[in-house]
Parts: sequence; C-alpha cells; structure tokens
Amino acid sequence: MKPKPIKEVKARIQQHRRVGVDYFRLRLLCPEIARLAQPGQFVMLRVSDSSDPLLRRPFSFFRIFPPQTKKRKRPEDEGALEICYQVVGRGTSRMTQLREGERLDVLGPLGKGFWPEEGRSLAILIGGGIGVAPLVAWAEQLRREQGKKKRFSKTSGNLKEVLVLIGGKSRDKIPGIREFMRMGLEPQIATEDGSLGFQGLATDLLERELVTQGHKSAALYSCGPLPMLARVAQITDQFDLPCQVLLESRMACGVGACLGCAVKVRDRTLRGALEDEDARAQGAAVHLEDRCGEEMAGSWREGLAPIIAEPPAFFRYVRGCKEGPVFEARDILWE
Ligand SMILES: Cc1cc2nc3c(=O)[nH]c(=O)nc-3n(C[C@H](O)[C@H](O)[C@H](O)COP(=O)(O)OP(=O)(O)OC[C@H]3O[C@@H](n4cnc5c(N)ncnc54)[C@H](O)[C@@H]3O)c2cc1C
Ligand code: FES
Repeated sequence: MKPKPIKEVKARIQQHRRVGVDYFRLRLLCPEIARLAQPGQFVMLRVSDSSDPLLRRPFSFFRIFPPQTKKRKRPEDEGALEICYQVVGRGTSRMTQLREGERLDVLGPLGKGFWPEEGRSLAILIGGGIGVAPLVAWAEQLRREQGKKKRFSKTSGNLKEVLVLIGGKSRDKIPGIREFMRMGLEPQIATEDGSLGFQGLATDLLERELVTQGHKSAALYSCGPLPMLARVAQITDQFDLPCQVLLESRMACGVGACLGCAVKVRDRTLRGALEDEDARAQGAAVHLEDRCGEEMAGSWREGLAPIIAEPPAFFRYVRGCKEGPVFEARDILWE
C-alpha cells in the first residue's frame, strides 16, 4: 500500500478563543493538510519555538474545511482545520498564549481515522469530555455522506440515522453541543453533577438506549477517557455491535518512529491460525466419526483438547499513532 502523504506546514492561526473554563478552539489555515484530513486522524503541533516543551503535542481534528474548487460563501473556511483543546499541562498552557496571525508548525494528517461500518443503518457516536471533539468532525462527515447517499451506496449508503450520546463532569466540560445541533442532531447529554441533561455517565445513556431500543443495526464510534472506552467496549460486546474507539495514548513522535505509544491488542494472526486449526480439527473429527465410530473418535478428540480449549489471549503491541488512533474496540486488551 502507498504510504499516506504527511505534510509539515507553518500554518497561520486564523482564530483562537476560549470556549470554556479550560477549553480553547484553535483554527489554522493549512489547505495542504485540510485537503487530506479525515475525522479521527490528528496533527502534531509544535506549540513553542523554544525547546520547552521539546516534543510536539497531538490533537484530533474538531472540524475540517477542505479547500474546494467551487467558490465558498465564507472564504475564511477555505482550507482550514480546527482543533478543540483542554488545558492540562505545560504544552497546552503554552498554547493558550498563541495569537491570531501567528504561525504554528503543524505536522499531519497522521494516523488512521474512523471508517464507515458497511451496511449499518444507525451510527451511535458516544463521547466523554474533550473526547467529544473528534466526534464532531466524524458526525459532519457522516451527515455529508448521508446527504449524497446515492453516490456513497457502498460505504455509508445504508446509514439512516446518527445518534449522539455525550457526557462530561459538568455542562462546561462538553465541547461541540452547538455544532451537533447545527447539524440537525439532538445530542443526548449526561453530566456527572447534573448541571445539564441526565445526571450520570454517557455510558448509562448508551445502556439505556440499547436495552430499550435494541438498535441491532447500529455501529458505534467512541472517544473519551480510557475507563469510559473500556465500558463502551464491554457494552457493545454484550450487544454484539461493531465499535470503533479513538485512543488518546501519550505520544512522542506521532509518526511511528519511537514506539512510545504502544497499544496492547489481540493478535488476530495467531488466534486466526489457531481457530483455523480448530476448524480443521473439528471437521476432521466429524469425518473420523463417519469412518471409525463415535467411541474411537471420542478418544481422538480428548487428545486434541488442549488445542480446542479456549485459546489464551494472544497479544502484541502496535503503535497508537500509526495503526491507530482509531481501533476496533474488540481488538484492544483493556487492562
Ligand atoms: C491522537 C490524540 C488525539 C488527541 N486529541 C486531543 C484533542 O482533540 N484535544 C485535546 O485537548 N487533547 C487531545 N489529546 C490529548 C493531548 O495531546 C494532551 O492533552 C496534550 O498532549 C497534553 O500536553 P501538555 O503539555 O499540556 O501536558 P503534559 O505536561 O504533557 O501532561 C500534563 C497532564 O496531561 C496528561 N496527558 C498528557 N498527554 C495526554 C494524552 N495523550 N491523553 C491524555 N492525557 C494526557 C498527563 O498524564 C498529565 O497528567 C489527544 C491525544 C492524542 C494521542
Ligand atoms: S509516538 Fe512515536 S511511534 Fe507512536
């Protein structure tokens, strides 16, 4: 497969504003990256010209405005990217001082973003806190593709509905509510302190939805704190629904060179080989019964027991920045 292009750009800051106590939105003009960007992918930002902090910091796309050949109503949207960030430490504190008009070193687009689950009529987007940010870009893309669904019949052509479930500690810790509303989506909201919507967790909303509505044809897309994602994975496993999760593992290089973002996943290759062996062995056992009777086949099967028994969870480490940050939830070993 051809490697995906990655650009390093000095992007001009078009807009930078506070949108909550410790949430900010940063809009960068960089058509080179906006042209290629997909929801769920990310950029690495060098937040300072000095060596402090030394490493770039990763941020998901909150909104993507790819450059278009057609004339736009708002020329300022031409080839821009927007990120929504939460101030947590040195790098993000430094970012709050960035001024409109300044230039910022941006590397991207990086990683593997969300992909549409074929043949599913409902997309459920479930996010927590700042993890809601990349779901806004994904919802925008799904809505766009819904609009021209005839042309996209192979991927999201069956998609009829998008349901958004979002939560946070309090009402000011959930980004994107206005953007979802603008897309015509009515997000269901949960806050831990009860300041907005249902008092509880976004995963409570998900359980309620799945128990009461069934939603057998749903596919889930999720981002948020790790314990939330682990719970989403558990619930979707119980309901046997496909689920993609965006993991915000700590990253140093962001391009697959340092192995600093290791994610433990099930090893499908080994498991697959073993399952094939089981299938072959079971097929052979049926064949054997036909030929030599049940008694003999029974003792033969006993010999195979160690292989047929539930195989141990084979695992390996993959790079969150290259093979992710979006993974199938059932591949992750949640420990
Ligand atoms: C693929 C990806 C996408 C991301 N998208 C966004 C986004 O859209 N908006 C946003 O606000 N943040 C996002 N993050 C998290 C963001 O990169 C970190 O919050 C940021 O790097 C912290 O930098 P800092 O220098 O301020 O904090 P540091 O001084 O490095 O750390 C301060 C605190 O932040 C925590 N922290 C550091 N890195 C992470 C991380 N990767 N995830 C969770 N906690 C972390 C540390 O544990 C520590 O407690 C994303 C991370 C990844 C890997
Ligand atoms: S951050 Fe360096 S390999 Fe992923």
